[in-house]
Amino acid sequence: MARLKLAILISGRGSNMRALIGGCREGQIDADLALVLSNKAEAAGLGHAANAGIATKVIPHGDFPDRVSFDGAIDRALTTAGADFVCLAGFMRLLTPGFIARWRDRMINIHPSLLPAFPGLDTHRRVLEAGVRITGCTVHFVRFETDTGPIIAQAAVPVLPGDDEASLADRVLGREHRLYPMALRLVAEGRVRVEGERAVIDGLPADGGGALLINPAG
Ligand code: GRF
Repeated sequence: MARLKLAILISGRGSNMRALIGGCREGQIDADLALVLSNKAEAAGLGHAANAGIATKVIPHGDFPDRVSFDGAIDRALTTAGADFVCLAGFMRLLTPGFIARWRDRMINIHPSLLPAFPGLDTHRRVLEAGVRITGCTVHFVRFETDTGPIIAQAAVPVLPGDDEASLADRVLGREHRLYPMALRLVAEGRVRVEGERAVIDGLPADGGGALLINPAG
């Protein structure tokens, strides 16, 4: 399979973006970094990407009359940069059906829960309110409904007595930084395909390999 030309879309801190960049730079992920794009000029991740020598672009959503024209501008920026695969990494805008269709099975996202449980915002607060004992994070292909789409990889994280939103978010985020590069690596190796809205991964060992992280300490 051809080497991926990757665009990463962010809106803020960009810690998952950094994990993906690290994975590419350390040779774990066989992909070129074509562009880091943000809808917010103040996104902290932009500085890191620029320091890492990656092309960056800001497209403020407020400059556009509607979502379709904003998504059109993103699409043009991706095409101009030569990107053929998109990673959403804390990108906080809802994307339109047309854009999602155009990037179908070429766009993935990370969400800080074990989907399909707890899609949407305020995830950790809702996890704590529900009293579940195990949460985690999920990397999935993007479909139109928020935080849906074929699941590529998941990591389980315990909810501990005494956790608050911040401590749980921290523990899950640590897992995200390992899971996202692992999932992208599987994609870059050409081992992930979508069959009937389920992601199938070629050559996974019986323990789930890179698609499954279940040891909280490991
Ligand atoms: C992460 O928790 C991610 O799962 C969610 O948004 C957060 C982004 O954090 N989609 P960062 O910008 O990657 O640090």
